[in-house]
Amino acid sequence: MNLKMMGSKMKIQVEEAKVEGLRVEGVKMEEAQPAKARADVCPLCEGTGWKTAGNSRSANDRRVTRCDCRLRARGETLLTAARIPRRYEHCELSNYDTDFPGAHPSLQEAHFIASGFAKKCDPRGDKGLLIIGKIGTGKTHLAVGIIKDLIVNRGLACLFYDYRELLKEIQNSYNATVQTTELDVLRPVFDTDVLVLDELGAVKPTEWVWDTVSLILNTRYNDNRTTIITTNFDDQPAAGVTASMSPARAATRGETLGDRIGERMRSRLHEMCRIVTLEGSDFRQKFRSANFR
Ligand SMILES: Nc1ncnc2c1ncn2[C@@H]1O[C@H](COP(=O)(O)OP(=O)(O)OP(=O)(O)O)[C@@H](O)[C@H]1O
Ligand SMILES: [Mg+2]
Ligand SMILES: [Zn+2]
Repeated sequence: MNLKMMGSKMKIQVEEAKVEGLRVEGVKMEEAQPAKARADVCPLCEGTGWKTAGNSRSANDRRVTRCDCRLRARGETLLTAARIPRRYEHCELSNYDTDFPGAHPSLQEAHFIASGFAKKCDPRGDKGLLIIGKIGTGKTHLAVGIIKDLIVNRGLACLFYDYRELLKEIQNSYNATVQTTELDVLRPVFDTDVLVLDELGAVKPTEWVWDTVSLILNTRYNDNRTTIITTNFDDQPAAGVTASMSPARAATRGETLGDRIGERMRSRLHEMCRIVTLEGSDFRQKFRSANFR
């Protein structure tokens, strides 16, 4: 019971007392306090965090299981730790629309794969997902939807990182005025059950960028950890590999994932991830009136 409700209940008691012609000074605030404390205690486990196992039939069976209240609390802690940016907080698998007018069929297929993944993936062995698509096709929405599901329904530790942001944080950690070390930033990236790396390739490639990406992906690969990646770049080889292309085609060719992360990492990604391709138009343009950013 909250204080406001308690206040009105006390008022009623006082009024009843007046009607009955009783002294009302006896109603003290302190008397009401234990009732509040009791109301806050979880009725299932009485605050112990453990409840009797649901289907136990025998009175002698004293097996216990984690109470729902503790699971809920763990979910909240994990959600905070996942660092999902505010602009994507609304993203869930359940509100990912696949049948609006003009929706590309690839959305439905991608949603099906994402839902199956959220339900069944083994974070210590199964492949992750490489979600590829043009701007605004819903890549980040799907990735966030999956990790929220993994957190809330399966209690897995997940972490969201924008690729640019991650590289910036690692770079800042070399800066003596910032009180973090490279490992402070990287440890959770290496260790989390499921990592989302959003917008892979969005930073102009340099040797340092390639070394850093390969350190992250190879560490997770070697430790059998699951990674979900999104990218705007086509999953095509780097320029050097496509030397046979006609000069005219090469000139108009857009940059590829191979160009941005290197062929070696692109091929590693194929071992680490199942590819999911989203096609269609920019959801933000389509539903601009609905205030999508
Ligand atoms: N199928 C969908 N159903 C509901 N909302 C969607 C869908 N696709 C995209 N959105 C919404 O549109 C906005 C843009 O989607 P999102 O950020 O996931 O696109 P993206 O492919 O990651 O784009 P970018 O390439 O710019 O990173 C988000 O607010 C997202 O929630
Ligand atoms: Mg995105
Ligand atoms: Zn409880």
